[in-house]
Amino acid sequence: MIEVTFLTNGGKVVTAPENTNLLRLSLREKGGIPFKCGGGLCGTCKCLIEKGIENTDAVKPKERKHLTDAQLQQGYRMACQTFLNGSVSVSWLVRQP
Ligand code: FES
Repeated sequence: MIEVTFLTNGGKVVTAPENTNLLRLSLREKGGIPFKCGGGLCGTCKCLIEKGIENTDAVKPKERKHLTDAQLQQGYRMACQTFLNGSVSVSWLVRQP
C-alpha cells in the first residue's frame, strides 16, 4: 500500500493500492483536489507533487498542453492523468469563488 498526503486539505493522509489514479483516489477519499472533466482536457486538476514525484508514472501528452516544462520540472502534474506507484504529498491552488 502507498500513502497519499493531501497537503491543501489539512494534511489528510489516506492509503491506497499501488497504481492508483490520483484524481480517482481524491474523489473516493474526499481528498479535495479540484477537477472538472476528469479526462485530461480542462487542466483544473493541476497539482504539485511536493514529495514523491519519483513515485508517479510518465507525463502524458495531454499534461503538456497545460503544464510548461518548468512546471513539470518543479513537480506539477494533472491529477486525472497521474498514477501512483509509491507515496506522495500533493498540494494545489485553492480557487476563490
Ligand atoms: S480534471 Fe480536467 S484535466 Fe484533469
